[in-house]
Parts: sequence; structure tokens; C-alpha cells
Amino acid sequence: MTYTTTASAAELKINGKTYHLPLVEGTMGDKAIDISNLLRETGYITLDSGYKNTGSCTSSVTYLDGRGGILRYRGYDIEDLAKNCLFVEVAYLLLHGKLPNAAELEAFKQLIGRFALIHEDMIHFFDHFPSHASPMSILSVMVNSLCNFYPEMSANPLEDFDETSTRLISKIRTIAAFSYKKSIGHPLVYPRHDLCYCGNFLHMMFDKPVRPYTVRPEIVTALNKLLILHADHEQNCSTSTVRLVGSAGVNIYAAIAAGINALWGPLHGGANEAVLDMLETIYADDSNFEKYINKAKDRNDPFRLTGFGHRVYKTYDPRAKIIKKACDEILRVLNVSDPLLDIAYKLEEIALHDEYFIERNLYPNVDFYSGIIYRALGIPSNMFTVMFALGRLPGWIAQWKEMHEDPATRIGRPRQVYIGEPARKFIPLAERP
Ligand code: SDX
Repeated sequence: MTYTTTASAAELKINGKTYHLPLVEGTMGDKAIDISNLLRETGYITLDSGYKNTGSCTSSVTYLDGRGGILRYRGYDIEDLAKNCLFVEVAYLLLHGKLPNAAELEAFKQLIGRFALIHEDMIHFFDHFPSHASPMSILSVMVNSLCNFYPEMSANPLEDFDETSTRLISKIRTIAAFSYKKSIGHPLVYPRHDLCYCGNFLHMMFDKPVRPYTVRPEIVTALNKLLILHADHEQNCSTSTVRLVGSAGVNIYAAIAAGINALWGPLHGGANEAVLDMLETIYADDSNFEKYINKAKDRNDPFRLTGFGHRVYKTYDPRAKIIKKACDEILRVLNVSDPLLDIAYKLEEIALHDEYFIERNLYPNVDFYSGIIYRALGIPSNMFTVMFALGRLPGWIAQWKEMHEDPATRIGRPRQVYIGEPARKFIPLAERP
């Protein structure tokens, strides 16, 4: 698919001269001014800190409507996918652009199962991380290192794509579980051939030689839903990082490792862990909501209501709606009551009725409730962003593939407006004051 160039054009008047810039429109009516030739025609670049108004590419992977609160992967509403699919089914959809039929899904599952182990030499890497090492730092190191164990997959970006993408999706799960086991000093638990993607992850995370872990279907269902809801999200910070690093021609493992590092940030995927810290702080401070809402509104206070606000959504994040509902379901099924969920509910209610948040269109985002569920599943908070990465991996890979398939792709290299010193005469060391 491609965008359409509309008949009319944007007129730009600079120093008495009029330039005509093409107007383009996407499948769902999203509009853009094509400035591909702006510098050559006008001698001007654009300036847009944080790329708030800038489209970096065309894409067919995910559609977001920030005002309408719509999220679709390859045209399918997130609500339908979260309700009816397995995570691996949605991963296939993102990678191949269509929902798999039964035979395709079975073959995909088999391939994922085949790649579940990591090279035994990689397991020794874990012996050299301190026990308190951040699981996100371990994840990016280990994923980056995969290119040393599968160099054949690093050369040509799209050759053997099916194998490379499936290998990554399978192994990231094993690396994540192994990093958790090492951090608590427990023996590694290897994947089993008879368990599904999510079931195997839970098995590797929580099984113990002295107390076997029973994989409960309800928990598998909850985990499938959470991973689906995180699977892609258009050109967010980490996806843009994967594209930018990938555009230099580096192997997929290095591009994905870069995405993992971008996701780690507390303004991005790291927010799910920061939300739990915030809720615990408020709970420990006698649930003094007024104090923290005021801190969040105070420009001079660095405290922010983490899990709230979004660059694109100016309404309730559709993923947060689904996760909030799933919180109730899974806590009921597990017969868990979590006081932090009540804190989250109350915080949301206060914020959504406060002028400051209303004026700025600040609503709960995907990270506000997800940690409550991960916690109920027994996943420690320092693994929450790792869980985000497990979900987001198929999206990163799909976007990386799309970039390499697009003939218009060039190495990403933004410009700048220089505001430093004008030319200065060099001063030899001996003459400097
Ligand atoms: C993710 O991009 C994606 O798609 C990301 C993601 C994905 O799936 O990939 O959806 C995942 O990263 C979700 C966001 C997780 N981060 C957080 O929850 C951190 C808390 N949120 C904020 O830091 C902020 O809302 C951002 C980073 C999410 C968005 O920042 P923007 O778009 O740059 O907006 P901004 O910082 O310019 O805020 C606009 C105004 C400012 O106030 P004024 O200067 O106008 O007075 O809103 C205020 C901000 O101070 N504001 C907040 C706030 N978020 C914005 N004030 C208090 N608490 C907040 N959370």
C-alpha cells in the first residue's frame, strides 16, 4: 500500500517566493506535508524538537488515532486481538501482515519451540553479571550478543527473515527468565517442548526442583493479553530507535538491542516499574493523594504522575482500558487483593477530575495498570520493563523489516539549527589565558 498525494499542495511563502509542497494522505485520512525536497528547493530545514509534528516514514504495521483512542495492528482492532488471539498469533500478524491460518500458526509455534534454548556458552555470561544487575541491561547485552552466535543471520537483513525473527522471539523469553533465575540465585529452568509460548515463560520463571510450578491457564491467558497489548505502537521512541540504528545497515540483533535500551527509560517502557514505585510511595505516605497530585502539577517539582500522559493519545489509552479491566479479572481469579490497585483507582479518579490533567489531556497510559497484574503473577517489578520488551519485540522486528523492504529507505540522519559560536581564530596553548 502507499499514501495518496492529494491534488492540492501546501503553499509556503519565503522572502516573497512561493513554494508548493505536496500534501499526502494515509489510508485512514492522516495527513502530512511532504518536505522531502524542502532543503533543496528553499534552503530551509524544519525544526521540531522531539519530532512532535514530524512523520519519519510511511508504515502499514500499526494505526493509532490519538484523539479517538483507536489502536489497530495491520487493520485489526486491539480489542479483538486481545480478546481472541494468542500472542504468537499476533506476532505472526505483525511480522507477515496477515493472521495465520491453523497450519501457519502451528508451523510458527513449532519454529518458536525449536529455538527456545540459548547457546550453552551464553549461559556463562550470566555468571559475570552482579546479582543486582538490571534485567534490562542483561537483556540488551544478551540480545546484542546473539549476532556472535548466529553470524549467518547478520549479513543480509531479510535473508532467512522467518528463522531470524522467530529465533529472536523465542530466545528473548529464555534470556529474560534466565536473568531472573540468576538474580535470585536459583538454578536455571530450561524450556519444555510441550508448553506454549507464555506457559514456557512462566515455567522457566517459577518452576523449582524442590517445588514444581503448575502453569495455570488463567495466568497464561492474562500474559497472552498483556504481551499482545504491548506488541507494537507505531513510531514510539524505541521503535524509532530500532529503525534509526537499523537504517545504518547493522544486524537485526544490534538494532533490537538499541530498542531495548530506549525502552528502558522511565519516560517510555520503564514507566511501568516507576508506576509501582509511585503507588508504593503514596501508599506508604498514608495515601496522601493531595500531596502527590499537587507535586505532579508543580512545574518546579520533578515528580510526575507516571503512567499518565502520552505523546499521541489525548484520550484514555485503549490498552489501559483493557488492562484495567483485566486487573480485576486476574486478581479475582488468583484471589489476590492488592491495596496498590485501590491507590491506582483513586489516583485516576482524582486526576481525571482535575483541571490540570483535563486541560493537558492526561489520561492513564499502557503503563499505569500493567504492573499490578505482573505483580499478581509473581513477576518482580525490576522485570516489568523486560515484560514490555517481550511484548514489543514482534513490533520492532516488523518495523525493522518494513524499513528494509522500503526502497525509499535511506540512512536516518536528521539535521539541526546551529546556535553555537561563530568562527573563532585558533589560540595556541601557550597563548591561552
Ligand atoms: C510509553 O510513544 C508511545 O507510543 C509510547 C508507548 C508505547 O507503547 O510505545 O505508549 C509507551 O512510553 C507510554 C508513556 C509512559 N511514560 C509515562 O507514563 C511517564 C509519565 N508521562 C510523561 O512523562 C509524558 O506524558 C510523556 C513522556 C508520556 C509524554 O510527554 P510529552 O508528549 O513530551 O508531553 P510533555 O512532557 O510536553 O507534557 C505536556 C504537559 C506539560 O505541562 P506544561 O508544560 O504544559 O505545563 O503535560 C504535563 C507536562 O508537565 N505532563 C504531566 C505528565 N505528563 C505530561 N504532568 C504530570 N504528570 C504527567 N505524567
